[in-house]
Amino acid sequence: MSTNPLAPSWLAVPEDANALPAAVWSLNAHRTASGELEIAGVSATAVAAEFGTPVYVVDEADARARARRIRESFDREFARVGSAAKVYYAGKAFLSTEVARWVTQEGLNIDVASGGEMAVALAAGVDPARLGLHGNNKSLAELDRAVSVGVGAIVIDSVVEIERVAAAAERHGRVQPVRLRINSGVHASTHEYLATAREDQKFGIPLADAPAAVARIRAHESLGFLGLHSHIGSQIFESDGFAEAARRLFALHAELLEGGDVPELNLGGGFGIAYTSVDDPLDIDEIARRFADIVAGGAAELGIPVPVVAIEPGRSVIGPSTTTLYTVGTIKDVEVDGHIRKYVSVDGGMSDNIRPSLYGANYSARIASRVSDAPAALVRVAGKHCESGDILVHADYLPADVEAGDLLAIPATGAYGWAMASNYNYLGRPPVVAVRDGVARVIVRGETESDLLSRDMGVAQ
Ligand code: LLP
Repeated sequence: MSTNPLAPSWLAVPEDANALPAAVWSLNAHRTASGELEIAGVSATAVAAEFGTPVYVVDEADARARARRIRESFDREFARVGSAAKVYYAGKAFLSTEVARWVTQEGLNIDVASGGEMAVALAAGVDPARLGLHGNNKSLAELDRAVSVGVGAIVIDSVVEIERVAAAAERHGRVQPVRLRINSGVHASTHEYLATAREDQKFGIPLADAPAAVARIRAHESLGFLGLHSHIGSQIFESDGFAEAARRLFALHAELLEGGDVPELNLGGGFGIAYTSVDDPLDIDEIARRFADIVAGGAAELGIPVPVVAIEPGRSVIGPSTTTLYTVGTIKDVEVDGHIRKYVSVDGGMSDNIRPSLYGANYSARIASRVSDAPAALVRVAGKHCESGDILVHADYLPADVEAGDLLAIPATGAYGWAMASNYNYLGRPPVVAVRDGVARVIVRGETESDLLSRDMGVAQ
């Protein structure tokens, strides 16, 4: 079949509209002899039959392997340059007690971005010393709890927060380790980065204000200064933005060394993943190698010791592990400028994955319950919400005989899918099911109608 002119230019007609490109699908996803999608030994139809659809299916071994690989790559590369690395999993991408255990068992720490995320990590039994707390507007209660439980690092995001954290630490008789988040002026997105004197955004403090802020931190006996922090963006494919941010932070880091210890440098998260077959992110070994070279090179230039580097990947740990399964309902062939776009509507939508609507993010899709040798047709996968922007896959090719009742799988939904899910139109949030070695188990149950009604005070309880 030739390209449908309605397709975006990046999307080619696949040779096989049943194929599961390895870069996009979780490690243990493949098709069985009968053509069904199977993940970690559990078939998509079995998951759908037991747990219903929509359902998020997490390939546990995939998530663990990615967590482990990131840690091992950074450990190895920073050992090569005579230092060490600390990896924090950014829980905002997806956090449950189970996932908190997986990543900590694989040797990662956890970055939490609110009191709620902190509560989940603590409920999982994670040692508070392995947590880092972020946020541009942490409440006094969040700070107090973090200090009182002994969170390993609080990332101070504003000058006013220095006094707030110091007061909490004094109240609890603790010395609280802190980082200082810098607004480096570097912002990166998938394929490009922007570097300005100062980025127009709410996070961190300007480079120029940092020496005075660090002096204030150091003046408090209740605070221990760990170092600077920078996070330049998310879904980044290149290392140039990180290099530029590191270069800017380094000059400051070296200057701060004159006034005391600066043991660490935190360069944030943001490593990109493949959502479609045209995405080609850097391999983690290569990222780690470049990071170590950038940091070691910068340290050598300034004649300072190579700091311990902390990173905070979220998406690249959990994103590729998860596939969302839906059931196809209504299909419409919509004629646009003389060409057909097939709208395939499924039983979820922007309430379980808002990224396509919110960011225009691209995903891909496959029929999960069978293979088909029908010619490929351009489809748009839509949800069931009362909103025309409720799209899950803007464009992909599926076998043209896709029909009601087929199971549809969208891969790489593990990051910022469930985490940003909502109850729009009173759809219950789907369950999260972990699959491993042929066994499926619910790690977060789905919401029922009674869950949806349970906070409505007008309902007789
Ligand atoms: N560290 C900090 C300070 C962050 O703000 C973030 C993400 C991360 C680490 C993790 O970044 P990652 O490795 O996951 O890219 N909802 C958006 C992404 C928002 C990212 C917010 N901060 C999305 O769905 O694309």
